[in-house]
Amino acid sequence: MIQDELKIESIPESAWQESRRSFMKRLAGGIAAGGALVAGYGTSTAASPPQDLDTAVSGTDPGDERYWHAVRNQFLLRDNLALMNAANLCPSPFPVMEAVFKYTRDLDYDASFQNRIKYRQIREDTREKMARLLGAHPDEIALVRNTSEANNAISSGYHLQTGDEVLLSDLNHPSNKSAWEVKSRRYGFKINYVSVPLIPGGEDEIIDAFERAYTPATKVMSFTHVSNTTGLSMPARQLCATARERGVFSLVDGAQSFGALKIDLADMGCDAYSGSAHKWFMGPKEVGVLYVRKDSQDAVWPSIVSAGWRDDVDSARKYEVLGQRDDAALTATGRGVDFHEKIGPDRVEARMRQVATAIKEGLTELPGVTLSTSMDPALSGGVVIFKPGDLDPRKVFAKLYDTYHVAGAGMGPNVRLSPHIYNTLDEADRAVAAVAEILRDGV
Ligand SMILES: Cc1ncc(COP(=O)(O)O)c(C=O)c1O
Repeated sequence: MIQDELKIESIPESAWQESRRSFMKRLAGGIAAGGALVAGYGTSTAASPPQDLDTAVSGTDPGDERYWHAVRNQFLLRDNLALMNAANLCPSPFPVMEAVFKYTRDLDYDASFQNRIKYRQIREDTREKMARLLGAHPDEIALVRNTSEANNAISSGYHLQTGDEVLLSDLNHPSNKSAWEVKSRRYGFKINYVSVPLIPGGEDEIIDAFERAYTPATKVMSFTHVSNTTGLSMPARQLCATARERGVFSLVDGAQSFGALKIDLADMGCDAYSGSAHKWFMGPKEVGVLYVRKDSQDAVWPSIVSAGWRDDVDSARKYEVLGQRDDAALTATGRGVDFHEKIGPDRVEARMRQVATAIKEGLTELPGVTLSTSMDPALSGGVVIFKPGDLDPRKVFAKLYDTYHVAGAGMGPNVRLSPHIYNTLDEADRAVAAVAEILRDGV
């Protein structure tokens, strides 16, 4: 068993350097040969410059474009597809994908308790890596299934009753808005909303709006770190400090910041933070992270309790007793942290911002386009939202994909482009040129 464990854990370092061509060759050679996957693989990697992930610059400088081509080659992305939908779902790089294949194979090969016991330790290793990435202690990290579950762990687990109040931003996602509303009807607490300007004049405008909205009955405050609908990035550290000063529990929905921005939760000072591995983190599907600060855990009851529960567990592990899990996905999440650390969270953020800024700058040049996302890095992340003149945004979204192979999203009256590190600056230009043509020619 120990032999097997070692064998499975030993994903070679070369996995980091290999091109998608060699990965696919190996895959087709028997690792887990999915015929459709192999058939769907594009052919033109010849233009990719010969640079690998180890020859990059360091620090926050996004550096050489060739480096980012090498990063892109870590993904099985359709060659002509400019995928700009990170706010919704991201692809995983090969080392993560390979880990999902390998460990799924291992589980299907031998699903005995004896073979699976090793996953306990692997899960702890993943937790430790995740804690390191997020500036937290492993005891503060629960590996859950997605941001929705993490947000609901707080809205279900924090005890509230009639007379209590919760403060939410009107930009909150349904998993952190509708969820509170359902529970307020059940338990009788009241919700107050902070209305956030589309593009605020500065961080102070947001902080002031929150400060004005507190009452002596406020017990919990929660906001979306980076909005999926406007792209606004909130001043998380200051907002959490205003909550802490008042003894109010703070929950930061990090669905659009986890894996995109460099996150240091100790510095942010929130009581809880949520995220999905399958978004900007580029991890396996259906893994999420819930951080609950150590000294705030007594205030949050676990709301799912299943086999494996122990009364003496005094850590965020008490929020992940969720029944049978996908051990392959949890293991691959650790590989996702390796991938981020290999590039560097600073540099991931810098590159993501570089591509998003190129798109925003291009869009502002187009007559008729209204950009809803700030150009100010303090007020924006990787989510770019714009209104395409009088055109139907859903039709623009469809034409972008069908005609120009640019994958974004239709968001109410707007179109959303959310690029990430696997996008090149050429693709940013292509996306802007496509919008220009659509504005000229119609949908
Ligand atoms: C801000 C925000 N919170 C929560 C979620 C829910 O994420 P998931 O579906 O991974 O639970 C999303 C999804 O887009 C989101 O944008």
